[in-house]
Amino acid sequence: MNDKLIIFDTTLRDGEQSPGASMTKDEKVRLAKGLERLGVDVIEAGFPIASPGDFEAVQAVANAITESTVCGLARALDKDIDRAAEALKGARSSRIHTFIATSPIHMKMKLRMEPDQVVEQAARAVQRARQHTDNVEFSPEDAGRSEIDFLCRVIEAVIAAGARTVNIPDTVGYAMPHQFGELIHQLIERVPNSDQAVFSVHCHNDLGLAVANSLSAVMNGARQVECTINGLGERAGNAALEEIVMGVRTRPDVFGCTVDHLDTTQIVTCSRLVSSITGFAVQPNKAIVGANAFAHESGIHQDGVLKSRETYEIMRAQDVGWSANRMVLGKHSGRNAFRSRLQELGIEFTSDEELNDAFARFKDLADKKHEIYDEDLQALVTDVNLAAENERIKLVYSKVCSETGETPQAQVSLWLDGVEKQASARGDGPVDAAFKAIEAIVESGTHLLLYSVNAITSGTDSQGEVTVRVEKGGRIVNGQGADTDIVIASAKAYIHALNKMLAPAQRAHPQL
Ligand code: KIV
Ligand code: ZN
Repeated sequence: MNDKLIIFDTTLRDGEQSPGASMTKDEKVRLAKGLERLGVDVIEAGFPIASPGDFEAVQAVANAITESTVCGLARALDKDIDRAAEALKGARSSRIHTFIATSPIHMKMKLRMEPDQVVEQAARAVQRARQHTDNVEFSPEDAGRSEIDFLCRVIEAVIAAGARTVNIPDTVGYAMPHQFGELIHQLIERVPNSDQAVFSVHCHNDLGLAVANSLSAVMNGARQVECTINGLGERAGNAALEEIVMGVRTRPDVFGCTVDHLDTTQIVTCSRLVSSITGFAVQPNKAIVGANAFAHESGIHQDGVLKSRETYEIMRAQDVGWSANRMVLGKHSGRNAFRSRLQELGIEFTSDEELNDAFARFKDLADKKHEIYDEDLQALVTDVNLAAENERIKLVYSKVCSETGETPQAQVSLWLDGVEKQASARGDGPVDAAFKAIEAIVESGTHLLLYSVNAITSGTDSQGEVTVRVEKGGRIVNGQGADTDIVIASAKAYIHALNKMLAPAQRAHPQL
């Protein structure tokens, strides 16, 4: 057996359901392009009925992606399915993913439906989706706690109705690896028409077993895994894409299927993009994408690796996209060198104006910082993209005084809806003073939930990448900014978050 394992990425949908991880349309498109470069087969771009913003984001991803299939989520309701189909119209290849809960507790308490009604609604939903596309996926939500006889009944009915992928979610992360693998085995054995569909799994990580459960399912015949970059997702998250992919790639002797169609060298770039967009830092000891994942600290390990890498390493760092901080460009590099290095990193500009803007920022950065690494270029482009988003607030000028024994003070000047305004404030530190001055101008009424700074590269001249999370009336948004001056990076991140907060947004949750 040497089947291809289909990688279905749901970072933009389930990942975004993580509290505080909401993404703008532009961020979703940027990430979708990264996922396309990585070579994922299916990108679940969102839940179009949830809000006009979700609809537009799915539409934008559908229009931007040409290699991967773009998928939209829909409850087993005509209005959801039609809305998903509408959002996906521009896609070269699209899929509708419809679902209804099948566990006794969900059917009784949430849906208030009898099992027979659930089977009927599931089949009807798949037929409805088939009127829009041949590529229909069905999920019996909370399958991990559903009765197997009932699951067999539902699955047979949806395959007969035209579902070509049947996804088995462990919605609440309750399953154990041996049991979940056996469930997949039993379903494939017992459902009479199971050969007409690809069996997929979607595991949550509440007990830290999402990857183990997914891989156990693959060993038992599942040929699609739903996963997210960095394991982002509802509550404790979903199965981490990078762990699934590298597990299958590293142990072909165990799985009987391949992921050779993926360009794994794009993994670290995607991971960085997700953490900079959401502000969810990757823990240093996280498998594959953590900063320490390939670092050997103990003398015995270092000695072994120097003699022969395989003594302690089962994968090569460069195979997942870790490049040893390489100086790529400097002060004297020209526009062509800049553009071609970015192309090598998979970053393209849609207009000359965008390229010129990024190049001007590159020259500014090269004046402040001798050596420019790939990580700097990526942050710089993120910064250009952030600036390109709808901005009602823009930083014009800032001056911060910080002196031993004195209270730090900041003076800030902003464009607010086209009018230049100034304020000054004192604070507990220079960043606090700058934020207070910004708030004095904007009067947003938001509360700061998170402030984090990360050095993009090593060295004291490194750019600081700042993430800010703010809340107002239950709505949470993140902002990012990068600069060699940490106070300016912080001000940019705060202003980015406030710009997002000023944009309207209302959305429903798929599991409600
Ligand atoms: O966790 C879940 O059950 C889901 C479904 C919508 C597939 O996300
Ligand atoms: Zn889920």
